[in-house]
Amino acid sequence: MILVTGGAGFIGANFVLDWLAQSDEPVLNLDKLTYAGNLENLSPLASDPRHVFVQGDIGDSALVAGLLAQYQPRAVLNFAAESHVDRSIHGPEDFIQTNVVGTMRLLQAVRAYWQALDEVPRTAFRFLHVSTDEVYGSLAPEDAAFTEVNKLEPNSPYSASKAASDHLVRAWHHTYGLPVLTTNCSNNYGPLHFPEKLIPLLIVNALAGKPLPVYGDGLQVRDWLYVKDHCSAIRRVLESGQVGELYNVGGWNEKPNIEIVHTVCSLLDELRPKADGTAYQTQITHVQDRPGHDRRYAIDASKIERELGWRPSETFESGIRKTVQWYLDNPDWVAHVQSGAYREWVQTQYAGQPAPAPAAVYP
Ligand code: NAD
Ligand code: TYD
Repeated sequence: MILVTGGAGFIGANFVLDWLAQSDEPVLNLDKLTYAGNLENLSPLASDPRHVFVQGDIGDSALVAGLLAQYQPRAVLNFAAESHVDRSIHGPEDFIQTNVVGTMRLLQAVRAYWQALDEVPRTAFRFLHVSTDEVYGSLAPEDAAFTEVNKLEPNSPYSASKAASDHLVRAWHHTYGLPVLTTNCSNNYGPLHFPEKLIPLLIVNALAGKPLPVYGDGLQVRDWLYVKDHCSAIRRVLESGQVGELYNVGGWNEKPNIEIVHTVCSLLDELRPKADGTAYQTQITHVQDRPGHDRRYAIDASKIERELGWRPSETFESGIRKTVQWYLDNPDWVAHVQSGAYREWVQTQYAGQPAPAPAAVYP
């Protein structure tokens, strides 16, 4: 079997669901169930014996050692993390605790387990660490996209904690020989995305008649990857990636935020037109920018294509349509995740921001 950490979160849950849709190899899923972890994401597996869920912390060394000894996984895939930049600005402590200390403890437990394996399973074993393009820092408009040899220049508490974890993974390979793989991926979007992140926040706010908050001028650029494509890339790297290597994963979809906002609004105008006949873009509101906001991320994903033959299968147009449709089809999921904890966060992050102003029309 494989051990997945953080498998009740957005990407981890998509990964577990896709994995078990394509393979009968069981999954041991270790997740702390923070505000971002949601067992409802895994409800299709509720009575599936191939999925074993354990609530716990990657930083709990005794728990992780016990699980490794009991279940003897052939690979560990580390998705568990605190993942939201804005939360890291308000409170970096949890990010250091999970992303840095937690990763270190997980690496230590995995190393002890791996070293004690017999030669054949030891040789086949892999530790795959899921990281982000944000560790590379911010690009100027004319800069080439990030490749795997870019320096790590993280700018937010979140990206600094992820960069630290990437360094730890590298060091556990270099020093102890642990067979690691690291993926650095761009912004994911798709089903099960918690509505604190841009795309799901836009959809749920639009439907609720609330402001669509655009930080600053909205011209910050991100590369967007449909989550199912990220999952297929991780499977590919696990299967055939070269030990010790990094693989950038991206969608070849660089877009300014304001374009994303207008695309979501147009899709909603088409799929769920407002009763009063007004366009969703009238809800767009420019709000105060994020402190230290990285201006541009862009991923050069040619290494994974060249060496492992992976390319994303969704275009942004096909992926965003599926995503908007998924949120329209799953109002109960949305209602459940908008719990008390979610409402508290919205109050912390967006309190005092202006009500919707008439939007500038985007070309
Ligand atoms: P998420 O916040 O939706 O989910 C994180 C999951 O980890 C949650 O289920 C949470 O309960 C769990 N978790 C948190 N702390 C834990 C701990 N100490 N022990 C065990 N479980 C813990 O995040 P996501 O968007 O699914 O991201 C998954 C991974 O992918 C993260 O490592 C993130 O840095 C990385 N990543 C995300 C994106 C993106 O666009 N979302 C892009 C690139 C990389
Ligand atoms: P986010 O989804 O938080 O991902 P990340 O910060 O990891 O890239 O944000 C994506 C972009 O959207 C980022 O440039 C910040 C911006 N943004 C807004 O303009 N408004 C919002 O309410 C949010 C959450 C994000």
